[in-house]
Amino acid sequence: MQIIEDLKNVFQDQFQAKPIIVRSPGRINIIGEHTDYNEGFVLPAAIDKAAYLAVSLRDDDEIHLVAMDLNQKFSVNLRDLQPVGDISWPNYILGIAAQFIQRGIKLPGFNAVLTSTVPIGAGLSSSAAVECATVFALNELLQTNIEKLDMVKMAQKAEHEYAGVMCGIMDQFASMMGKRDCLIKLDCRSMEYEYVPFKLDGIKVLLLNTSVKHSLASSEYNNRRKECKTAVEWVSENMHGINSLRDVTEEMLNNYVLTKDELIDKRSRYVVQEIDRLVVGCTYLQNGNFVELGKQMFATHDGLSKMYQVSCKELDWLVDKVRNNPDVIGARMMGGGFGGCTINLVKENAIDELVASLKVNYEKEMELPLTYYVSSIDNGTELIT
Ligand code: GLA
Repeated sequence: MQIIEDLKNVFQDQFQAKPIIVRSPGRINIIGEHTDYNEGFVLPAAIDKAAYLAVSLRDDDEIHLVAMDLNQKFSVNLRDLQPVGDISWPNYILGIAAQFIQRGIKLPGFNAVLTSTVPIGAGLSSSAAVECATVFALNELLQTNIEKLDMVKMAQKAEHEYAGVMCGIMDQFASMMGKRDCLIKLDCRSMEYEYVPFKLDGIKVLLLNTSVKHSLASSEYNNRRKECKTAVEWVSENMHGINSLRDVTEEMLNNYVLTKDELIDKRSRYVVQEIDRLVVGCTYLQNGNFVELGKQMFATHDGLSKMYQVSCKELDWLVDKVRNNPDVIGARMMGGGFGGCTINLVKENAIDELVASLKVNYEKEMELPLTYYVSSIDNGTELIT
C-alpha cells in the first residue's frame, strides 16, 4: 500500500530506525447517538478510513512526533508531559503516553510518525483512531499485555485528560474492536457487546460531509453531559436505583424533571427515547427490515436537531433534502454534532445521481463544498508490520 510505503520512508528519513506500524480506523454509527455516556446502547462500526502510526522506542526520555499530512513536528521530554495548547494532534498521542505512566508502567521515549485518511472534524472519530493506534503500538512495543477493553478505556481517558472532551466510550471502542462487515451492538452500561452482520444487498452507507468542522462541539458536548447528569440527579432524589438515564423512563421525566426545567427535560427525554429507538432499530435490522430501521434514523435526527439541539443548518438541510427520496432508506446527522457528516443508507445504483444533485444545490445555498464517502465496514485496530 502506498500510504504504508510513504510512512516508512518518512520514518526512515526522520529517525533512521525500524518502526512497527499500526492501523486504527475511524467509525460510523448507525443509531444510538449521545447514548454512550448515558449508559445506553450504541451501534457503531469501524470503517475503511484509518490512522496509520509508525512507532519505535528510544533509549532516552524524549518523545518525537511527526504529523506527515500536516507537515508538523512536535517534541517533548517525558518529564514535561502535559496537554499542548496550540495544536491538537500531539495531545492524542501524549495523552496515551500519560496513561501508561499513570498505570505505573516505565515508559521510555519514543518516535512516531502519523498519517491518516480519516477526515479531521468530520465526525468520523479521527482522534479516537490516533489514540487507539498509539495505545496499541505502545502495548505491542513494551509487551505490556494490556487487554483490549482496557486499551479502549485508556484511549477514552486520553481524550478526557488531554483533549478536554468528556466523551463516552463509543468511538474508541469501535475503532479498537471493529470487525469487517459487522456492526457492534454495545451496551455501554455492562460493556457487553455483540457483532451484528451488516451486509446490505444493494444498499450502501453514504457519508455526506457538510464541511462544517465541529469545533464548537467540545464545550457544548460537555454541557450536554452536565444537563443529562442534572436530570439523573432530579429523578434519583425521588427514586432509588437511578444511576443514569438508562434507568429513567419518560414517566419519571414527566414527574420529576419536566416540572422543574423544560430544557433539561428536552435533553434527557431525547436520550431516553433514543435508547429505546436503538433497541427497536436493532430488531428491525436483525429482521432485515431496513425500511423501518431507516424511519428510526430519521426520528433520531429530528430528536438530535430539535430536542438535543446538536445539529446545525447544514446537517438539517442534508437530511431534509433526502427525507422523501425513495432511494434513501434512512439518514441522520452522526456523531457529536454541530457539523461533520450525515450518514445515509442509500440504494447503490442511485448514489451518483443523488450526490451530483445534492452537491450543486448544497454548494449554492450553503456556500460550502459538499464531499462524500461511500464507506465499507472494516476491521478494528491492527498491527500492519
Ligand atoms: C462523540 C463522542 C462519543 C459519543 C458521540 C455521540 O463522537 O466521542 O463518545 O458520545 O459523540 O453519540
